[in-house]
Amino acid sequence: MNWDETGPDTDERLDESLVHADADGEDTAVEAALRPKDLDEFVGQEKVREQLDLVLKAALARGATADHVLLSGAPGLGKTTLSMIIAAEMGAPIRITSGPAIQHAGDLAAILSSLQEGEVLFLDEIHRMSRPAEEMLYMAMEDFRVDVIVGKGPGATAIPLELPPFTLVGATTRAGLLPPPLRDRFGFTGHMEFYAPTELERVIHRSARLLDVEIDADGAAEIAGRSRGTPRIANRLLRRVRDYAQVKADGRIDRPVAATALGVYEVDARGLDRLDRAVLGALLKLFGGGPVGLSTLAVAVGEERETVEEVAEPFLVREGLLARTPRGRVATPAAWAHLGLVPPQQGGKGQQGLFGA
Ligand SMILES: Nc1ncnc2c1ncn2[C@@H]1O[C@H](COP(=O)(O)OP(=O)(O)O)[C@@H](O)[C@H]1O
Ligand SMILES: [Mg+2]
Repeated sequence: MNWDETGPDTDERLDESLVHADADGEDTAVEAALRPKDLDEFVGQEKVREQLDLVLKAALARGATADHVLLSGAPGLGKTTLSMIIAAEMGAPIRITSGPAIQHAGDLAAILSSLQEGEVLFLDEIHRMSRPAEEMLYMAMEDFRVDVIVGKGPGATAIPLELPPFTLVGATTRAGLLPPPLRDRFGFTGHMEFYAPTELERVIHRSARLLDVEIDADGAAEIAGRSRGTPRIANRLLRRVRDYAQVKADGRIDRPVAATALGVYEVDARGLDRLDRAVLGALLKLFGGGPVGLSTLAVAVGEERETVEEVAEPFLVREGLLARTPRGRVATPAAWAHLGLVPPQQGGKGQQGLFGA
């Protein structure tokens, strides 16, 4: 394995990575076509779906606007999709914006004051809103009212502005970063979980149908197993496997086609990519499985500390391949097995497997 090669710089490599890249232009275009349109079509997340179904049906029955909804969970698990479903189920229009797009309280006031009655306001990355905007949002959520400040300094006056009732749907990857007063103003919070392989298989079959791609059960299972519990990644891998199938096979996706195609894209059987394997490989081969400090590990793979910690490690930890301990990073027995290496103690012959081969 070329874990010590000097490749392109990190940003470029992450953009190219099928599993680490943020949603790009192609994702955005295809995602629009692949998004489930109602709760019944939305795969998995049984708990959130059932709870949300009750919240929405009750509001509809009362002829009222639905309570504010907070959706938390990792990127690609379906938060944006669900916000659109909420609007569709309520028969309401939806306005989409994001925390980083709202720099000033005035930006938020402009959006809020132009909402129609019953409209859904989707606020993505709500944890990244500015403080003054956040405080304006408290009052808007609770009393459907904002104070617009006119003038500056001691002469400034607050002019109250009534808002039509609306439903705020906030999405965040970091629910823990939300200030409690904001969190408390949501009537319902849905925690999105990573998807089980069988659920991802359903997502893949559904997407394949919409994209008019032929895929069998084993082919879908192979892609699902490499998708890190994430529908966005599953859809992305499906598209790359489809390319491969068109060029190298007869367009049909079965297990060998899926496995070979994803091998070309350096996504391994568990969904690790080149960076993930580089980190794990260094930990095992250079440091005997650890413990080793984060900085040392980062230098060994030629990456920034933050890249190793925030991009590679969360999935390795979730997969039970790496543990963060007070003394440093430690590989688990599963990590040795995954890279086909023998841990030094269990090898029986001292350092075999550590410096061997
Ligand atoms: N439960 C689901 N069932 C089917 N497709 C899903 C599901 N969740 C997400 N997807 C698909 O995954 C992609 C990413 O979903 P998105 O809602 O944009 O995620 P998030 O906003 O949480 O980052 C979309 O193409 C969407 O259609
Ligand atoms: Mg989103």
